[in-house]
Amino acid sequence: MALAEQVFEFYIPSISRMGIGAVKEVGAKATYLGGTRALLVTDKGLSKSGMADQIKKLLEDAGIQTTIFDGAEPNPTDLDVREGLKAYQANKCDIIVTLGGSSHDTGKGIGIVASNGGDIREYAGIDTVAKPLPPLIAINTTAGTASEMTRFAVITNTDTHVKMIFATPRITPTIAINDPVLMVGMPPALTAATGMDALTHAVEAYVAALMNPVTDACALAAIKLVADWLPAAVANGDNMEARDKMAYAEFLAGMAFNNAGIGIVHAMAHQPGALLNKPHGVCNAILLPHGCAFNLIAMPKRFAEIAAAMGVNTAGLTSMEAAEKCVEAIRKLSKLVGIPAGLAEIGVKESDIPALSDNAIKDICCLFNPRKITIDDIRRIYKEAL
Ligand SMILES: [Fe+2]
Repeated sequence: MALAEQVFEFYIPSISRMGIGAVKEVGAKATYLGGTRALLVTDKGLSKSGMADQIKKLLEDAGIQTTIFDGAEPNPTDLDVREGLKAYQANKCDIIVTLGGSSHDTGKGIGIVASNGGDIREYAGIDTVAKPLPPLIAINTTAGTASEMTRFAVITNTDTHVKMIFATPRITPTIAINDPVLMVGMPPALTAATGMDALTHAVEAYVAALMNPVTDACALAAIKLVADWLPAAVANGDNMEARDKMAYAEFLAGMAFNNAGIGIVHAMAHQPGALLNKPHGVCNAILLPHGCAFNLIAMPKRFAEIAAAMGVNTAGLTSMEAAEKCVEAIRKLSKLVGIPAGLAEIGVKESDIPALSDNAIKDICCLFNPRKITIDDIRRIYKEAL
């Protein structure tokens, strides 16, 4: 637990709309924020499925002229941001609406450069953005990343193949919308991967450097919801109760890590994403039990509490015994929802490990991990996770 005399700030969007049908008010909300011309940032899949057109119609019915930019990739890049910025400027937009999961990161990047000029690469790091962004409404379609409500963006530098991390309250979306109706279209594998990403946020936040009683409450509630509802959401994507609970889980996990920080699992998961374009949620899910096993000795009592939140009966166990059950419980859940057993299954090779490790040790998420990390630890964990 962080020291009692530490001062904490808590970051969340000004307004968060949640629940079945929450998206219907997007036009009214855009008007409320003073928007007249929106850039709707999304990906090709949501464009093809017709969901982007539905959102465009909702905005246009409220008098907001809307241009769709569907060039946001699952691992967003600086090139996506540059293309999106061109569309924003060419159409004289004054509000950004993002639709998707990682599309929010692209939208945040476009907003940074629209307000501050220059190139997106200049703003990587912590608190580097001087001017506020245009109003930003983030409509979520996955229950995982939480980028619709965080002060973080992760965008790949296409020259270095490193994920640049942008961390500043300036990029927190003004309004976040989590409508589970928009999540029913997610196939089981994506539901599983994004759900395990949410679990990773909550678990890492519960042991991260900037934890406080508010983030603790959010993290434990999120862990319980994921353990209880992710299998049902994967089993039947039309199960609205499971979709609704997972939307809350991801939002709670977002509140936790947006304020407490995250750790070694994300530091390591970012690298196969950046170097090899592997999906973020799957990388996290595979690495999560390994990262927890590494961190157990730093905070056994907290890992024991995570195990209990996942439904493990920890009565009569020592803290360390109960903490070890947490690793088991995560492995069990991963297997249940069909997560690949190791990184090799998604195409990571042993020969990739040196480059992945060199970048992971420099990732800012390492700063918030409860146990000090060396590059040898990282190399060993990647090897074990193959
Ligand atoms: Fe994540």
